[in-house]
Amino acid sequence: MNFSKFFSNPHNTLITAAMLTVAFSAESADTPIPLKNAFKNAFMIGVALNQRQFTEQDTNGAALVKRQFNAISPENVMKWESIHPGLGTNGYNFEAADRYVEFGEKNGMFIVGHTLIWHGQTPRWVFQGEGTNAITREALLERMRDHIHTVVGRYKGRVKAWDVVNEGLSEDGSLRKSQWQRIIGDDYIAKAFQYAYEADPKAELRYNDYSIENERKRAGVLALVKKLQAEKVPIGGLGSQTHANLTWPSADLLDSALTAFAELGIPISITELDVNASQGGQRSQSAEVSQNAQSSAGSVVDAANQKLAEQYASLFRVFLKHRKNIKLVTFWGLTDRDSWRRAGKPLLFDGEWRPKTAFDAVIAEATKNP
Ligand code: XIL
Repeated sequence: MNFSKFFSNPHNTLITAAMLTVAFSAESADTPIPLKNAFKNAFMIGVALNQRQFTEQDTNGAALVKRQFNAISPENVMKWESIHPGLGTNGYNFEAADRYVEFGEKNGMFIVGHTLIWHGQTPRWVFQGEGTNAITREALLERMRDHIHTVVGRYKGRVKAWDVVNEGLSEDGSLRKSQWQRIIGDDYIAKAFQYAYEADPKAELRYNDYSIENERKRAGVLALVKKLQAEKVPIGGLGSQTHANLTWPSADLLDSALTAFAELGIPISITELDVNASQGGQRSQSAEVSQNAQSSAGSVVDAANQKLAEQYASLFRVFLKHRKNIKLVTFWGLTDRDSWRRAGKPLLFDGEWRPKTAFDAVIAEATKNP
């Protein structure tokens, strides 16, 4: 290129500088259109945060969250073991959860609470009676009521949606035989929603689970929600975790599931989106936390970045088709480095907070279907 031509003509020099600026910003972490703006006519875009992000110790992470997202979920700090580690009234620890909620409020974000009743990350003592005695149904219900009233009550009006019950179903669509189910009985789910409603009647009370696109589990979730609705249990939303891999869910499977969920007449949220690109992750599509090592085994597949972009584009095409019923799409983590499945490089930002090809693919879907 003959630069002297530009330098001799001030007008051309100006155009060249402007062009350089555009090329530079498209490549830096400072992407031209943030996700939350690209999808503003469709649904909110959320991200699960760890403590370093919402305390802004991770300054790059916090800045990226503020720029790209308008909703947040707490990856771990509101789970029972974190917020209520011990027995009795002194057993609560709200420090981290308070900071999480303050971060969301300061930045005008939609704040999600995750999660009240789950088989995971719940201390053993919760299910133990006094001495060597087994805990009774009544005593466990009382413990559940105290937990839900205390936690939901503390953030009343501030946390806008709660995952009240998480992962209550098995792959075959029957109720999971968790300690909650075994000790209390099937109605533990209805009770949890009732207690949450007593503590904050205005919050969106969600049932949340994984792999509910699959036929049998889908039938189970539809039956469960319809039964709760028939019993006038205050369920206000359905969360589909959507821990995906490169081929699951297919566009057809996702489309038919979202069509079926729409019948329930409650808002749908995609609550824990990620796309596992590890070799192990292609063999198993379960989001069972205890099986996470297998799902993260091996390095990423060949051409992972390109395949990731294609799967993300396919998923967002279907989400956009169902935008009338979808209120929120939340990613389970900010960057590949933060992810619970980091070996599978499953997110839109790499370990250096830079947007990947998949980020551009997701933005492109929004641009095609604004
Ligand atoms: C995961 C977290 O990301 C990990 O940091 C933690 O060690 C285990 O739990 N389904 C859920 C989430 O509902 O709470 C899980 O989060 C992932 C699967």
